[in-house]
Amino acid sequence: MGGDLPAQLATGSVKSMELLGFSLHEIERAAAILRAGGLVAFPTETVYGLGARADDARAVTAIFAAKGRPADHPLIVHLARADEIERWARDIPDVARDLAARFWPGPLTLILKRSRFVSDVVTGGQDTIGLRVPNHPVALALLQATGEGVAAPSANRFGRLSPTTADHVRAELGDAVDCILDGGACSVGLESTILDLSGGRPRVLRPGAITADALAEPLRASPGAGTEDAPRVPGSCPAHYAPGTPVRLLEAPELGPAVSTLLSSGGPIAVLALRAPLVPAPGCEWRTMPADPSGYARVLYARLREADTTACRCILVERPPDTIEWEAIRDRLERATAGATPNKRGDCEDVCTGT
Ligand code: TXA
Ligand code: MG
Repeated sequence: MGGDLPAQLATGSVKSMELLGFSLHEIERAAAILRAGGLVAFPTETVYGLGARADDARAVTAIFAAKGRPADHPLIVHLARADEIERWARDIPDVARDLAARFWPGPLTLILKRSRFVSDVVTGGQDTIGLRVPNHPVALALLQATGEGVAAPSANRFGRLSPTTADHVRAELGDAVDCILDGGACSVGLESTILDLSGGRPRVLRPGAITADALAEPLRASPGAGTEDAPRVPGSCPAHYAPGTPVRLLEAPELGPAVSTLLSSGGPIAVLALRAPLVPAPGCEWRTMPADPSGYARVLYARLREADTTACRCILVERPPDTIEWEAIRDRLERATAGATPNKRGDCEDVCTGT
């Protein structure tokens, strides 16, 4: 598309969404859309983000409208290089630079005190800012070409599963974005670890691929855990990361009986389990999940989305192991469970409570 891009964005004439690949030319095109105040969905190693230039309050406001996200929920600013934190944050502790050197580019978001230059729109009015250098060649090329920090939440409607492919983004947001860069499926598959370094004891506000154990050595102490009253972390409200279909977490031995009960009162149902079904059952879409946490995390949101689109009554998920490597996965599954409302017949409630 040629012509005057800022004028096209202002008049809405760019509003038929462009799906771009990851050639240099396409990344340049997406960067031009960002510079002109448009919205670009782009791949990161964790999940797809919905980006706007972070120094343009109008563009950032459009992110909230596209997602249906409340205005007081802060956004993460994505940077091309770690040394850019000096511009976005103040009173930066040395440990933040150590962590950035060790884990960036990568799935770690640092919460720091914000610099005066940062707009309230990005931080939801808070005195802190979330910063991250993503580890994805398309994201890094886009950030470099844009030459600005890019504010980007996950590219889903508020409260829904984060997208891990360009198709997921299209299904979530469609023409609400100006362009989607397709960089394939995300390699990590769950949102970044969020570490609060803005004061007091460092705290993990959201678990992710970089575990509290991995952070303990550079921090020289185990980080604290986030709590439900952590400052406005949408992931900390129970309705987050939820598919539309009710989800129930069950121990492995509970799966078989639950499947039988549900099928006897009518299907279909979906199961995400760590082992194959003992007996295949018609009406039960059984998915055997990867046994390693990285492989599991990579496909989890795609599997939940698939189950969500098959009109099943309920998604039963085998509870993953209770070890640190599975912590982020357990966290997202528990939120998916909390966010799900049982359907009219209360099917899943019945299964869980045995009533
Ligand atoms: O992996 C990720 O972090 C992805 C990719 C796109 O980078 N982004 C992402 O953004 O998950 P979002 O907005 O869906 O989740 C970011 C979380 C939110 O829960 C938000 O409240 C929290 O980061 N956050 C951002 N700035 C914050 C701040 N200043 N203080 C506390 N939490 C903050
Ligand atoms: Mg999100």
